[in-house]
Amino acid sequence: MKFDILTLFPDLCASPLSGSILGKASDRGLITIQAHNLRDWAEGRHQVTDDIPYGGGDGMVMKPEPVAKALTALRQQNPAARVLLMTPQGRTFRQSDAQRLTEAGSLIFVCGRYEGFDERIRTLVDDEFSLGDFVLTGGELAAMVMIDAVARLVPGVLGSAGSALTDSFADGLLEHPHYTRPVEFNGLRVPDVLLSGHHAEIARWRRRQQLQRTLERRPDLLDDAPLSESDRAILKELRSSHEAKQ
Ligand SMILES: C[S@@+](CC[C@H](N)C(=O)[O-])C[C@H]1O[C@@H](n2cnc3c(N)ncnc32)[C@H](O)[C@@H]1O
Repeated sequence: MKFDILTLFPDLCASPLSGSILGKASDRGLITIQAHNLRDWAEGRHQVTDDIPYGGGDGMVMKPEPVAKALTALRQQNPAARVLLMTPQGRTFRQSDAQRLTEAGSLIFVCGRYEGFDERIRTLVDDEFSLGDFVLTGGELAAMVMIDAVARLVPGVLGSAGSALTDSFADGLLEHPHYTRPVEFNGLRVPDVLLSGHHAEIARWRRRQQLQRTLERRPDLLDDAPLSESDRAILKELRSSHEAKQ
């Protein structure tokens, strides 16, 4: 899968994506990540990419022409690429978006700086994403977070390092808790069921823990999660024991 980042600061994007699992995936040719300097598509001796806002106000606004030229060039190489604008005004990025975006095969991330983009840049992109309700100084970190989340879902990238199928959000719920050695730490014991070797019991315990965690921490997720009859029965029981305690 190919990831292109359009940015005024390509150097910022190198190191977080070059180590560990994503570094190995790049070495194996499963993913390609390339940061491009928007200035390369800017006109004139000074290669200006931003200008003062019409109507006045603080800060600089990113000009539309360099972004348009860069996108034309990158789309020529990859006509099927999806272009994503990084903006706090976009849709909040979720795991379901990461899953869907793996199908694109090629993604181009447009990163803003300063006050953000000339409004007309929005007409050049396929989608607009936000990392959440806060404002970053630039879109590079947002693009890298999204690339990390999408790239680990590309077949072969995780290998034996972990399974995306059981991660939080993969089936609409938070993941169950994990334990490793030692059996006892600070007076806290690993639940006996996990030491039992009884796979069906362990699977039942884990599902119940998933439901309980999600109910306690992210009850909003339960509205959309695909739940079985037995999940619903467990939730009913968990809710009534919670109410009884109050
Ligand atoms: C300082 S911000 C501009 C914010 C803009 N003035 C506004 O209020 O909507 C500069 C750039 O950082 C990026 N950015 C900031 N917050 C972001 C977020 N929550 N998610 C994604 N990108 C973000 C965008 O690319 C944005 O153009």
